[in-house]
Amino acid sequence: MSTSLEAIRLSPTEIRERIARLPRVPLAFTPTPLEEVPRLSEALGGPRILIKRDDLTGFAFGGNKVRAMEFRLAHVKAHGYDAFVLVNIGQSNHARLHAAACARLGIKMVIVKPGPKGERVTGNLLLNHITGAEIVETGTTDPAELEKILDDTLDDLRRRGYKPYASTREPFSPIAGTIAFTEASIELVGQLTDLGATCSRVFLVGGTSAAGLALGGKLLGAPYRVHAVSVGGSKEALLKSELTLSNRVATEVLDLPPLMTGDDFAVFDEYVGSRYGDATPEVREAIRLTARTEGIFLDPVYTGKAMSGLIGEIRKGHVGKDETVVFVHTGGTPIIFAYDGALANL
Ligand SMILES: Cc1ncc(COP(=O)(O)O)c(C=O)c1O
Repeated sequence: MSTSLEAIRLSPTEIRERIARLPRVPLAFTPTPLEEVPRLSEALGGPRILIKRDDLTGFAFGGNKVRAMEFRLAHVKAHGYDAFVLVNIGQSNHARLHAAACARLGIKMVIVKPGPKGERVTGNLLLNHITGAEIVETGTTDPAELEKILDDTLDDLRRRGYKPYASTREPFSPIAGTIAFTEASIELVGQLTDLGATCSRVFLVGGTSAAGLALGGKLLGAPYRVHAVSVGGSKEALLKSELTLSNRVATEVLDLPPLMTGDDFAVFDEYVGSRYGDATPEVREAIRLTARTEGIFLDPVYTGKAMSGLIGEIRKGHVGKDETVVFVHTGGTPIIFAYDGALANL
């Protein structure tokens, strides 16, 4: 007799209990609000839009990664590492949040920074400086050169007596966000139930969080489909990554078979523009409209692009006027200040 993967369900308690086997440090203020945004909905001619305010996770200007860090940095501590090393650009939200959390947890933070040396110290890069993170200026974006500089940085830290955790090379690191958002789906589904709302689609930036919301939603039997908007890279690559992440968490953390399939995700790459970080006219419109109807700030690299996806799908008639959709605001607010040139005249 074959088991139908479609039929696998877990209760919120079962999901929580399995995740609770992992080490965890508290950092996020949850539940984050699920906010009704009627003026934005009206400006778009329907549907009903709710924004899951994960920009308000509270720690160090917030964002989705605060939930992920609870698992990633607990894992780092539990394995006896005392230095956390990232290869990440100056305006990375990921780097800023890890720099702040490492400060709180007494872990040394080192950022190997691709890109030009001597960048303007603003936005996330400014916050990194304030936390005292050590920043290795590389002056390159060549992947092979960056790996070599990472090797040298790790050797140097070991010579200085540290046990460094090279986050980009560690297999646990990428699934931390998916674990966190598998659990966060319980929070979201509970809030929707409290509102009596049936949500058909959840829009957000494609990545580890989207994988978790899709896995959690499927296990809970929630009616929504995750709509993952690429901020750089093809939809084929994005779907592959969503499937890998969600099935890794299903099998490695929740003791389930790899139950996720391509049907569990809608993926989009038509809103990327020319490249990662391209603040397209549609992204600028999404930022303007959300700020001017609801007083909610989106950033030009991540959340503005994801919102341009939601707006685009509504205008194409792919989202019905009577539907209820959730947009997950995943944070990224400090990036706004680094795009002052592009955003001053919206
Ligand atoms: C603001 C923001 N939203 C979404 C993401 C995607 O994160 P994840 O892949 O952890 O879901 C990022 C990643 O850098 C981000 O900074």
